[in-house]
Amino acid sequence: MYQLRLAARSASPIGRSRNRRPDIKDMKFYVRTYGCQMNVADSNEMGRHLKAKGLVETQDPEDASIYLVNTCTVRQHAEDRAFSEIGRLGRWKAKRPGRKVVVSGCAAERTKEYLEDRFPFIDLVVGAKSIENFNEIAGRLLDRRATDEDLDYAVPAVNEKVAAFVTSMRGCNYSCTYCIVPYVRGREIYHSIDQILAEVRDRVSEGAREITLLGQTVNSYRHGQHRFGDLLRAVAGIDGVERIRFISPHPYYMTDRVIETMATVPQVCESLHLPVQSGSNTMLKSMMRNYTREHYIALAGKMRQAVPDMTLSTDIIVGFPGETEEDFRQTLSLVEELQFDWGFVFKYSAREGTPAAELECLPQELIEERHQRCLELVDRIALKKRLDLVGTIQDVLIEELGVGRTRTNYKVHVRREAQARQGAASINGAQARAEREPARSASPIGRSLKRRAQPQEKAAASSNIIHGDQVRVRITNAQRATLEGEVYNGNLAFENFREEDCRAGTCPDRQ
Ligand code: 5AD
Ligand code: SF4
Repeated sequence: MYQLRLAARSASPIGRSRNRRPDIKDMKFYVRTYGCQMNVADSNEMGRHLKAKGLVETQDPEDASIYLVNTCTVRQHAEDRAFSEIGRLGRWKAKRPGRKVVVSGCAAERTKEYLEDRFPFIDLVVGAKSIENFNEIAGRLLDRRATDEDLDYAVPAVNEKVAAFVTSMRGCNYSCTYCIVPYVRGREIYHSIDQILAEVRDRVSEGAREITLLGQTVNSYRHGQHRFGDLLRAVAGIDGVERIRFISPHPYYMTDRVIETMATVPQVCESLHLPVQSGSNTMLKSMMRNYTREHYIALAGKMRQAVPDMTLSTDIIVGFPGETEEDFRQTLSLVEELQFDWGFVFKYSAREGTPAAELECLPQELIEERHQRCLELVDRIALKKRLDLVGTIQDVLIEELGVGRTRTNYKVHVRREAQARQGAASINGAQARAEREPARSASPIGRSLKRRAQPQEKAAASSNIIHGDQVRVRITNAQRATLEGEVYNGNLAFENFREEDCRAGTCPDRQ
């Protein structure tokens, strides 16, 4: 099922270094992740297995003995970037005996043989379908099982992330004609609710307060009698889970039950990323998306009615084969009509083996031009939406020192010096839950259908803002790619937050 390839080619640098078998105690690993959140979650999972074997993660590749590149193949550009990084690893590996190069993920699944031929120094290729077997595969990579002595040394598999990903399903049963994912990740497999909840509990015990459920079509979840709405409710029932998000849903499975769950379960955040891909019915049909423009618009309306504060974001592909100027204008008009809060705009990229790759491509200049036009529109609306936030009060969950997110998924930065200087009004989880409702209704956009128990008035603890804190922030200013705010009931000024990198279509992990 998976491809295991321990380097044995004498021509490779590792051939010379095999005499010395490194001790696990000496080994650190470095992970580089390309692509979507699913890949980030896979990297975390592989990292946890390595840590459990006694390895320590490092942020410095020069310090590492294992270099793991988790690849993406959804567009050619993503694959090219990963391959050029892998190309540089021959020299990295030759610098120190015992170093190992591991390549995983979707591009690894799609191009195993090519990778092995082009980069003979790779020690192990783990395709995306085999990530769940990584533990066993990695054991073989390390040549021996960890001893008790190693395990004494092992750092616990702690991931101190406040916002954690939990994979609830893998693979995709759709056949969108442009998409390589079903080929490299296979058909849908759903984890049981028990397994998912156990993982959620693990993440919470490690410090997580926000859980993002992940799957290629995350809302198609089914296990026994359970559907996606049941899963959301079950996760919300776990003590310590304050926020729930999910990515990426498919419009077809945004059922009334899921919408009702979003509207009524307080932990589910008011933010939905719902890829539309195109505003033209002709293109949607040719892409085999299984919904029409009208269906999508009606769904967005229903969602916004049920969850009034919700931000709606999307993915758009421009320049799909056969897209006429009129089709493209349909996409622009859909963006105008739905006023997405933000969006990722992708240039169509032909992926070998997909049905669309058989079709004649549009000229690259035309794709570039449409990409630019669409991006400008999406950005203009995104800025207007940010300006609309000025004067509102937002709950911000601090994810790392100085950086947090609103429930609606806007990222904010907190000035560090200010934190150190002045204590901040910080509310812990339970308190934040109790106090959220008045904050939301006090704001111009804060009318939620969700109803909570009467809030208790509690004095905000005075301490520095640290990760895991929820702080209430009044937005005071918004610019093209920045939001500024101050702690509500406090004095802290928020530094501009920079989202240039995550503007529509340019976010590094979305390319
Ligand atoms: N070309 C361009 N964009 C693509 N996506 C998926 N496949 C392709 C492709 N071949 C985009 C879709 C999807 C997002 C993750 O990537 O918009 O929602
Ligand atoms: Fe690809 Fe379509 Fe499946 Fe999404 S739903 S992963 S775009 S095939």
